[in-house]
Amino acid sequence: MLSPIVQHGLAALGAHRSAIVWGGLLAVVVLWVIRRTPCIGPYRLPRVLPWRLSRRPVVIWREGPFLGWSRGRLGQTRWAFGSREDSVAIVGPPRISGKTAGIVIPQAAMFDGALVTTSTKPDVLRHTVARRLALAREHGGDVYVYAPTADGPVEGFRPMRWSPLAGCEDPLVAAMRVDALVTVADVGRNVENADHWRAGAARILRAYFLAAAHHPSRPGDFSVVTRWLSLHEFREPLVILSGLPLDGAQDWAADLAGVDQRTNDRERSSFFAAAATALKVTAVPRVLRSCSATDIDPAEFIRTRSTLYIISPSEYQSGLAPLCSALVESIVHEAYRLHDAHGPRSALDLRRLATQVGRLLSGGDPLPQEAGPPRVLLQLDELTNIAPLPSLESIVSQGAGRGVPCCWTVQSLAQLRNRYGDHAAEAIWSASTCKLIFGGLADVSTLDQVSRLVGDHRVRTRTVSIDPEGYRRRTYGYEWRPRLAPSQLRELPRKWTVLLYHQRRPYALRAPIAARKRRLRDAVRPVAAAAPVAAMSQAATSPDARLRVVEFDDVPPAALPTDAEGAEVQR
Ligand SMILES: Nc1ncnc2c1ncn2[C@@H]1O[C@H](COP(=O)(O)OP(=O)(O)OP(=O)(O)O)[C@@H](O)[C@H]1O
Ligand SMILES: [Mg+2]
Repeated sequence: MLSPIVQHGLAALGAHRSAIVWGGLLAVVVLWVIRRTPCIGPYRLPRVLPWRLSRRPVVIWREGPFLGWSRGRLGQTRWAFGSREDSVAIVGPPRISGKTAGIVIPQAAMFDGALVTTSTKPDVLRHTVARRLALAREHGGDVYVYAPTADGPVEGFRPMRWSPLAGCEDPLVAAMRVDALVTVADVGRNVENADHWRAGAARILRAYFLAAAHHPSRPGDFSVVTRWLSLHEFREPLVILSGLPLDGAQDWAADLAGVDQRTNDRERSSFFAAAATALKVTAVPRVLRSCSATDIDPAEFIRTRSTLYIISPSEYQSGLAPLCSALVESIVHEAYRLHDAHGPRSALDLRRLATQVGRLLSGGDPLPQEAGPPRVLLQLDELTNIAPLPSLESIVSQGAGRGVPCCWTVQSLAQLRNRYGDHAAEAIWSASTCKLIFGGLADVSTLDQVSRLVGDHRVRTRTVSIDPEGYRRRTYGYEWRPRLAPSQLRELPRKWTVLLYHQRRPYALRAPIAARKRRLRDAVRPVAAAAPVAAMSQAATSPDARLRVVEFDDVPPAALPTDAEGAEVQR
């Protein structure tokens, strides 16, 4: 027997049966329209991502890198984020795509760890510094700007100093630093026996770096190295090295003495010329001044979730690349060291999860967050020009697992191949787990490669023929065609990207200019326009102290200290 309430309900349903049917039909049509329009991108690529990648479109600090704008199943706006283990490759032609304005800037504004970001212009700094400074301040950190060619404050920040000798008191660091500088400077390029000249340059520089880092009166001042190089100095570094009780110091001293005594004049001069090539940008007095001391401590930088903006104008790129790469690598090595010292975090700790659930159910306090070292996101915008890291291949493939996820940007894969060589470029590209490709590319091999990665799909074909009796015959069949032909990829509309994520099918994402979108506008408001966010500058707290951020409340950047004043602050 049914209760009176159920009977009443069934009677009501019966009376409104036709309205319910119509309502259901309408809902199906609406859902169908939604699935056909906002949820589908160009070339019918889906915009609805798997739940693991899709997040609510709210600006909060997140573990994974921002990838672009997607849709939910009901057509609502969602944002795409990679996982904490992902590395991101972005390929798009210059100016029109919106790599920086659409992806790099919002990514910087939402990544919850420390950040190193490279750029030719101060656009990332301008749009994200307010949020990055807020995060750093929360953890006792700072925002640093490395712009060795700047002759005054950049967007209100006085650039920091960094000496390539930082950390070189340790022979291992000195050896790695010299390798990075010599490799990035491409010493001996287009010369016969390039390896020989490179090895010769490294023999001199290794010994010089270790000796200069232990210099009795000016430890860490890079002008010591440049002076020794100009004078072909042997005596002073040999004296310092002979007094060092360090592994390798005596071997390097012997190496340097060998260059002095066992090579002829011509070869020796060529070794010195090769060494000078790796450091040629330090011939610019402004750059050399920025190498006189080090204002950043990588371990503290990481622990305090600070941000480092590396700004290398395009006209100085080739000269500055070795310095920028060496600086970034020094932070990467420190991040690895901190991460390895802490041990890996298990992806799914069931015991911890059970304890957490138990505590929450019993009304207790949740477990405190695991105190692992924060991660460092490397945003290598214009990778091949600014900081072509020699170890990029290993950073991309295993850095995310050791606390250093990476997002690199190039204007075509040809740029990457030109810089790293075919095999290394291929390895870097294939190890990047999220690939974002913009339209407008004209590099045929890149277009071909991406088209093949996107794959084929089966299309129905119809063939019309005239048979011997003169009748038209239609034959239907199927054939496999590229899902996205190279020309279609080139014609992808502006502000759209194709996302290739792990083994998943391709998706279409939007990458609109962040500063123009309501949901992101406040988070990426430029410093000058942010009120009452103060324009900021950095000044040394004491001659040797690292830089401290000081606020100039309500002062627009234009009114910040002039070059002369900036120079006064600097030692
Ligand atoms: N805040 C902004 N407001 C309006 N337009 C902007 C803004 N930022 C960038 N743009 C425009 O968006 C386009 C893309 O700029 P973006 O700097 O992102 O290019 P990109 O893909 O990074 O190119 P490149 O490889 O040259 O760096 C440019 O035409 C630029 O003028
Ligand atoms: Mg850019």
